[in-house]
Amino acid sequence: MNSVQVKDRSFKPFLTAEQIQTRVNEIGAQISKDLEGKEPLFLAILNGSFMFAADLMRAITIPSEISFVRVSSYCGMESVGKLTEVLGLKEDIKGRTVVIVEDIIDSGFTMQGLIKTLLEKEPADLRICSLLVKPGNLKVELDVPYCAFEIPNDFILGYGLDYDGFGRNLPAIYVVE
Ligand code: IMP
Ligand code: MG
Repeated sequence: MNSVQVKDRSFKPFLTAEQIQTRVNEIGAQISKDLEGKEPLFLAILNGSFMFAADLMRAITIPSEISFVRVSSYCGMESVGKLTEVLGLKEDIKGRTVVIVEDIIDSGFTMQGLIKTLLEKEPADLRICSLLVKPGNLKVELDVPYCAFEIPNDFILGYGLDYDGFGRNLPAIYVVE
């Protein structure tokens, strides 16, 4: 794998497509086992989780639904804005088992806001599934039962994650040089 140039930055290989696929399949199997009979609703958070969600769903072997929602914006290398709204949620989640599918948890503020909003809708069970978590940056307490990789605080992109809108199409994950 070679380094890639995205806009003004150079990024070097961090996780291969094979490594990602292996973990995503493991997590899909785990969720399928844990939530058997629950008919979970997966809520994939746009834009970042689209690729992860697509692969994860192929690894889910139990009856389930998926819906895509948008919760916040993120520009450049810093998290901005305060999440208060979940856009595009048409399903009634009251009494349901819901799995949030996110690309990355950095400070955790986005997820915390999302959880707060969703809990008001009274799901029976609400679980977090995040491809990546940066434990060193976490500012809030979050229970993440499904996490593919814990990574250092460096900025990464690829496999759905972007740098200023670009790089989401890369099948592997890269870290800034
Ligand atoms: P948090 O609210 O600080 O946890 O930020 C979460 C959001 O920030 C994620 O959904 C991503 O969109 C974005 N983000 C955080 N770290 C990175 C990164 O290293 N690369 C790309 N996007 C990131
Ligand atoms: Mg995101």
